[in-house]
Amino acid sequence: MDIVDPQIEEYAVKLSTPHDALLAELGEATRSDIGSEQMLTGPLAGRLLELLVWSSQPQRVLEVGTFTGHSALSMAAALPDGGRIDACELDPERAAFAQGWFDRSPHGARITLHVGPALETINALDGDFDFVFIDADKEGYVDYYEAILPRLSERGLIVADNTLWSGRVLDGEGPIVAFNDHVAADPRSVQVVLSVRDGMTLIRRA
Ligand SMILES: C[S@@+](CC[C@H](N)C(=O)[O-])C[C@H]1O[C@@H](n2cnc3c(N)ncnc32)[C@H](O)[C@@H]1O
Repeated sequence: MDIVDPQIEEYAVKLSTPHDALLAELGEATRSDIGSEQMLTGPLAGRLLELLVWSSQPQRVLEVGTFTGHSALSMAAALPDGGRIDACELDPERAAFAQGWFDRSPHGARITLHVGPALETINALDGDFDFVFIDADKEGYVDYYEAILPRLSERGLIVADNTLWSGRVLDGEGPIVAFNDHVAADPRSVQVVLSVRDGMTLIRRA
């Protein structure tokens, strides 16, 4: 199911600031060399992430699920001076591909890519996070949330992707339903579920 009418989606993309040339090229290379291009955040969600980072000015960003690097580079472009991203990716081939694009980008040096299970990386990293993008295996979302929320800085923000799961949330079961129910029942958080692309939930500490 399309969450948003495809013509409306097309209109929204067309009227938003165009995709950066390097990110458009990365999208094409993902399609031709890696596949699974539906995993890419794409121009609309990427631009939203960039604007959220631009307005919240986080020093410490965590990305859970990097794939070929589109969302990490979108966020890196808007970081304040000294801002850094720890990006987690399980698959070494995808990580190597992403690193190649980070190396080509003027913002890529701000990203440290950690290859391995994200939960292990999160537990090995010190300190708090100001901005977190969760976009990895859906079965892990509750665990990522539980590991991250206590370490979210006072004005920190979590963005969780695919939280409407192509409309399959209406079936009432599955890992994304479990995640959405978990967050909705948690008195420690304030959240809004946005019908952007495949659903994006913004979460802060209550
Ligand atoms: C939807 S894609 C991420 C898309 C990316 N954020 C972008 O904008 O292009 C999900 C990624 O999470 C990775 N992943 C799955 N399980 C993981 C885990 N346990 N730890 C780290 N990454 C994981 C997958 O290999 C995949 O590349």
